[in-house]
Amino acid sequence: MEEIFRLDREYLAQTYRKLPVVFSRGKGIFLWDLGGKRYLDFVAGVAVSALGHADPELRKALSRQAGRLIHMTNLVYIKEQVELARELARITPGRINKFFFSNSGAESVEAALKLSIKHTGRKKIVAMEHSFHGRTLGALSATWKPSYREPFQSFFLSNVQFIPFNDLSSAERAVDEDTAAVILEPIQGEGGVRVASQEFLKGLKELCEERGALLIMDEVQTGMGRTGKWFACEHWGVEPDIITLAKALGGGVPIGCTGARPEVMESFQPGDHGATFGGNPLACVAALTVIREIRKRGLVKKAERRGRYFMKALEELKGDHPSVREVRGKGLMLGMELDGEDKAERVVMGALEEGFLINVTAGKVLRFLPPLVVEEAHIDALVSTLDGLLRKVEG
Ligand SMILES: Cc1ncc(COP(=O)(O)O)c(C=O)c1O
Repeated sequence: MEEIFRLDREYLAQTYRKLPVVFSRGKGIFLWDLGGKRYLDFVAGVAVSALGHADPELRKALSRQAGRLIHMTNLVYIKEQVELARELARITPGRINKFFFSNSGAESVEAALKLSIKHTGRKKIVAMEHSFHGRTLGALSATWKPSYREPFQSFFLSNVQFIPFNDLSSAERAVDEDTAAVILEPIQGEGGVRVASQEFLKGLKELCEERGALLIMDEVQTGMGRTGKWFACEHWGVEPDIITLAKALGGGVPIGCTGARPEVMESFQPGDHGATFGGNPLACVAALTVIREIRKRGLVKKAERRGRYFMKALEELKGDHPSVREVRGKGLMLGMELDGEDKAERVVMGALEEGFLINVTAGKVLRFLPPLVVEEAHIDALVSTLDGLLRKVEG
């Protein structure tokens, strides 16, 4: 593996802080590194591999489609794209029934921002502190973290206002007759697994309706069953005007999607937006297969049940360990905040050594995003390892 690390440093942009491991294959929740060591994957490619690795149904569908047609231009009609859009219309909340396909989360946010500006003719976007919406200039304009923003600030959308997450009175002051949209994640992922309150989301929805602004729900990380509902906003019964999806939608094949109420999406006219690869037949077949398999295997309900089991076990750990500040999240999107970044780092490295892939976000929040096919025994194994590792870092 050392040689790969060296070549990475020589040939790749050093934009990621990486764990010292190279995986060569996977199966379900398991991964094997180049040396043949087995790991349990509690990151799932950051909420991407919902069906786990090397899923046989996904593999079959992709190989069949690759033998027929991988790519087709959006200058003609694409059957698989129409089928996927119709399928999404069945599961997305409320009146979200029209879709634009792209290739990533950031792109789905770009389309959402452009659409809200075009539809309303307004100039201002309201976003949340601790938000993350992606790295392209538009999405980054609505992303909070100062260290991500500062070098590029002068090229941003000129009118984005950040308000504290879960603070309705700030929203009441910020959203006005010049606001095109309010954008937020119902559970902030990169920001540290922060869950929106019922009062905030409901209030925000009412505020947007009253003042003619659109509500954009970024479900790139929370969507596709991860939180125990198809889409997290269903937990609060709040219907957005625009929704953004990516990550788990393609089960590992890149696809992004922006969905909207038809009358909103109809503000996009030919030439207003586009993406060469957006919704190509291979990516659409991947997403159709992911939706079908999630449904067939009851993985949304399973995420809810497993999530409850996992949360209870993490709460018990909190009771035993003074370094655990808080446990939060929904379904299989859970975070455990420790009282120090150094401790979080040591737990992640210790877990890796013991054969568990976990992630830390917002400095000191251990984040757990296993494939939706995770079993109780896998959760038990991780929790008992965490128990030992926390004892070590506390000692
Ligand atoms: C909520 C949210 N939106 C957008 C993005 C950006 O997605 P991508 O990395 O596919 O551009 C992410 C990625 O982590 C995300 O969590």
